[in-house]
Amino acid sequence: MYFIANWKMYGDLKSLNSLNKVIKFSKQHKKKRFKIIYCPPYTLLDSFSKKIKKTKIELGAQNCHFEMSNGPFTGSISPSMLKKIGSNYVIVGHSENRSSGESDNVINKKIRSSIATNLKVIFCIGETLIQKKRKLTNKTLKKQILKGLSKIKNSNKILVAYEPVWSIGTGIIPKIKDLDKNVTFIKNVLKINLKIKNPKVLYGGSVNPKNVEDLASIKSIDGFLVGGASQKAKNFIDIVKKTII
Ligand code: 13P
Repeated sequence: MYFIANWKMYGDLKSLNSLNKVIKFSKQHKKKRFKIIYCPPYTLLDSFSKKIKKTKIELGAQNCHFEMSNGPFTGSISPSMLKKIGSNYVIVGHSENRSSGESDNVINKKIRSSIATNLKVIFCIGETLIQKKRKLTNKTLKKQILKGLSKIKNSNKILVAYEPVWSIGTGIIPKIKDLDKNVTFIKNVLKINLKIKNPKVLYGGSVNPKNVEDLASIKSIDGFLVGGASQKAKNFIDIVKKTII
């Protein structure tokens, strides 16, 4: 099971202290099969990287540019810069970036450069509330997958994160039956259309210590991408505990 903390645009050097408890927890349970990945803002990647050395916790970034190494792209960070600073993962296609204009085509280019740089990709997909109401969920998810992962070979380096847009930051999670159906649909597209043998699909959207047991009852889910609840060590640890212990 994967537990990915997406801190979004939150956190400063002081918030690194919250990591001590999570490191301790991870050491106490090192025999259990789970992986914790922290995705703090770019400004904290270096400090995080130093802090998690010699632990099983891994580091990811929240986005990257599609140019692999360098270029005249003011304000951007490349996959190879992320790799050099100790990041093994990168989130691509988050709905908060799709909603400000990131296209499937740009997402595809980012994924390709990230994989070429040897980063693993947390590829986010999800339908909006309007798409859900119009019964366009499957069509939307399939289009995002096929366009985002077009011409990608090393698909074992991809974790798909299903994040219904209407569930992010709202406290509302999908009905368990619907979520199970959607995760199975996503896995089938990955298996049948993209020939990925053992696809990994995570869920994200208002995951918290109270609802995680219900969510974890869905056997097809391979982990969680956690926003708000990942910023407090206790909440994040509780999410992991309630899923795997
Ligand atoms: P919340 O857990 O705050 O709803 O955020 C989910 C998310 O967007 C993770 O990428």
